[in-house]
Amino acid sequence: MEYAAKITGTGSAFPQKRVSNTDISQKLAQSGIETSDSWIRERTGIAERRMSTPGNSEEHNSSLGLAAALNALKMAGKTPLDIDQIIYATCTPDTIIPSTACWLQHKLGAVKAWGMDLNAACSGFIYGLSIADQFIRTGQVKTCLVIGAEVLSSIINWEDRSSCILFGDGAGAAIVERTQETSAHRILSTHLLSDGNLWEMLHVPAGGSAQPVTPEMILQNLNKIHMNGREIFKVAVRTLSSFAVKALKKNQMTVDMLDWFVPHQANIRIIEAVAKRLNLPMEKVLVNVDRYGNTSSATVPSMLDEAVRDGRIQKGQTVLLDAFGAGLTYGAVLMRW
Ligand code: UT7
Repeated sequence: MEYAAKITGTGSAFPQKRVSNTDISQKLAQSGIETSDSWIRERTGIAERRMSTPGNSEEHNSSLGLAAALNALKMAGKTPLDIDQIIYATCTPDTIIPSTACWLQHKLGAVKAWGMDLNAACSGFIYGLSIADQFIRTGQVKTCLVIGAEVLSSIINWEDRSSCILFGDGAGAAIVERTQETSAHRILSTHLLSDGNLWEMLHVPAGGSAQPVTPEMILQNLNKIHMNGREIFKVAVRTLSSFAVKALKKNQMTVDMLDWFVPHQANIRIIEAVAKRLNLPMEKVLVNVDRYGNTSSATVPSMLDEAVRDGRIQKGQTVLLDAFGAGLTYGAVLMRW
């Protein structure tokens, strides 16, 4: 194959409203549920997250995606008309139909593109990047917009203190373009896997065609997130580590050759445990979970964007993206920036 793919622009966007741990403890206290700023910080590393204001169309999923996309296009020096393909990773779409990719296309005016949604939960951006890589390498697509964006506040179960403290809203975007296979700056390899046997660990029981929502289900929060946090924690540490090793091995590289590790931002304790397993110093690990919480498919691209814009990620450096999510899904992308 003569082509390869590379990221030429990144972008991110978050809603205005900051929700602190204290805001959450006060909200839960109204229902007699106890939590505290210190518990949340110690067990997750999260200090605050952003949440869309319901009814504000500027903060719909596709609007956050739009803002992130415009930033990424600007960095890449491209216009919406240059986009051939839109891959929109989300598990909280604006609407069931049309896809959020089509809502974004409408807002962006990317009339030459085709778009689709992709639901791999928190691994979504990595799955999207992998799909973009395949389309570009086969010569079918020149320029792809990959988005990871969520309004998780729409499915938070405020009666479950172990999950409601974790999630936030936001969007990240990347412009992925064709380059030569011999280029130093390119996606080196992508690695995906899912394990549907573990579906129960993180799911929203109702709201799909298997269980259309009824008023009774709403009262039982069946249209909200149900999670077995302790079990996911263990799987996450194991799979993030094994996918990192797999990606490095595939490219005959060792951990010390990595410049930056961009893990899914779910919990600082997961990230630290993975770094320890890999023998990777935390100085090489990018972290923003403290400020945004877990924004699912948006964590990896928004973290990437932050580190590209503040100059931490430099041309020629080796960057590893690594995620896990509901499904369960797993994925990693190794690239030379
Ligand atoms: O994108 C993937 C999304 N999901 C995840 O990544 C989840 C991964 N898992 C986690 O991040 C952690 O397991 C949690 C943050 C969810 C929970 O932390 P933990 O250290 O695993 O706590 P735990 O579930 O073992 O619970 C310890 C105690 C329990 O009390 P008892 O039974 O020991 O009396 C919980 O009821 O902490 C209690 N607890 C809380 N206490 C205060 C759970 N949530 C809270 C809370 N405030 N918010």
